[in-house]
Amino acid sequence: MTSAGVKQIDYKLTTIMQARIYLRAFEPEDYKTTIAWRNDREITDGLGGAVLFVSEAREKQWIEDTIFHSADVKLAVCLKENNLHIGNVYLTNINYVNRTAESHILIGNKKYWGKGYALEALSEILQYGFNERGMNRVEARINADNIASLKLHEKCGYSREGVLRQAIFKNGRFKDVVVMSILREDFINRHA
Ligand SMILES: CC(C)(COP(=O)(O)OP(=O)(O)OC[C@H]1O[C@@H](n2cnc3c(N)ncnc32)[C@H](O)[C@@H]1OP(=O)(O)O)[C@@H](O)C(=O)NCCC(=O)NCCS
Repeated sequence: MTSAGVKQIDYKLTTIMQARIYLRAFEPEDYKTTIAWRNDREITDGLGGAVLFVSEAREKQWIEDTIFHSADVKLAVCLKENNLHIGNVYLTNINYVNRTAESHILIGNKKYWGKGYALEALSEILQYGFNERGMNRVEARINADNIASLKLHEKCGYSREGVLRQAIFKNGRFKDVVVMSILREDFINRHA
């Protein structure tokens, strides 16, 4: 117990040390990497947002807004071995009264899909959210046809809570969205 009476998560140091990735803040030049992901249908199809045509100028502005004006936690996922920026991971809609947030993950460099990097990045941002931002519940909304993401979140310790029927319109049809969440206590049980 800490002095504030909150059970601290003793996130295994070995887990962080063994991770092949690290998270860092965005840098202004990151738009040169992320613009390709933004316009890749194979990537955007998995996400909840609308498919957009994004110019380099707009992506540059988005990165700058994130760096200077956002209350969200939006981080680059980088490989320890060569610092290559392979994806992004976020905590958004942070509510410090309810201690809730939403998580989002993408591995934009497709060479690195299926190798466990998303699991490491999600675990790292969860440990930051629970240990440093005082979160108690982190929610993820996942397209019902995104099997990789559903399995990823389950493996990370999220539980399925329900389905938002026909909640998004994509590829000419309405799609269901699965709501999953992980509580602080779930994270402690799984990772500490
Ligand atoms: C979904 C996504 C984040 C998965 O990233 P990843 O690094 O490939 O995932 P991981 O390698 O960490 O996989 C973790 C688990 O997810 C599951 N998984 C990953 N890719 C999968 C696939 N193509 N099919 C089925 N299951 C898959 C596996 O169960 C895996 O566990 P395992 O290694 O024991 O088999 C990545 O494909 C991506 O960024 N897609 C585009 C954006 C997106 O859909 N983001 C999620 C929005 S909710």
